[in-house]
Amino acid sequence: MTEQSKIAPVVKALPDAQTVTAVTHWTDRLFSFRCTRPRSLRFRSGEFVMLGLLGDTGKPLLRAYSIASPSWDEELEFYSIKVPDGPLTSRLQHIQPGDEIILRPKPVGTLVHDALLPGKRLWLFATGTGIAPFASLLRDPETFEKFEQVIFMHTCRELAELEYGRQLVESLPEDPLIGEFVGNKLLYYPTTTQDQSPHMGRITDNLTSGKVFADLGLPPLDPEIDRGMVCGSLDFNTDMKTILEAAGLREGANSEPAEYVVEKAFVG
Ligand code: A2P
Repeated sequence: MTEQSKIAPVVKALPDAQTVTAVTHWTDRLFSFRCTRPRSLRFRSGEFVMLGLLGDTGKPLLRAYSIASPSWDEELEFYSIKVPDGPLTSRLQHIQPGDEIILRPKPVGTLVHDALLPGKRLWLFATGTGIAPFASLLRDPETFEKFEQVIFMHTCRELAELEYGRQLVESLPEDPLIGEFVGNKLLYYPTTTQDQSPHMGRITDNLTSGKVFADLGLPPLDPEIDRGMVCGSLDFNTDMKTILEAAGLREGANSEPAEYVVEKAFVG
């Protein structure tokens, strides 16, 4: 037997396969999971990739998923809705550690620091699973190096749907890597629109009424100072664009950075 034939070849069952390392179910509609990271994968915090499973026809069934882990993490994390009759998430919700998923290592996206001009305050506006890219950006030192203050607004219908974000925010000051960067720069403003909670209401309503500014002791949005990143449903994104444009902020892109950027929360 030659030396070479003794070594078991690393053959993965799926193309672009990665191995699931952890799964957390947050509610009956939401779960997060971690998986191995392709060695070749470099990404900017806030970007998304195509991810999925092999479909019944033998072809990959892929959807866009924002990477929820920061770019320095040796694993990848994702946050997903469970759609009971959704072709992918009805199956993806059952993955277990050790299972393989398909991940195309071609990250893209506009919720990145490169698409924003320098500013003083960064606002992160998310509804539902739109938190995913911000879970990455909130764990990236660059976010706190570039801005004096970071305001994270997250709105869900139910309290339990805020839990992933709440635990993430709570863990930041203690984090050995990011804790010192976060310091006291982060203001967290979670709201619910159905369950009772300390702060209620839609992000859009809390901005237009001025409630969030009064609660946090901040001045109104100013295009010289404030930068925004928006991630939620199509309707939410449209309403947020109207509010930000009315305040004088312009939409930016990788090719032309400006004062705010938008991306739809993909799955669900
Ligand atoms: P609401 O309960 O008032 O519709 P969903 O689960 O449908 O994705 O919604 C997540 C959160 O986003 C809910 O709290 C919902 O509030 C809120 N939301 C939905 N559409 C908009 C919108 N156009 N502007 C602001 N918030 C919205």
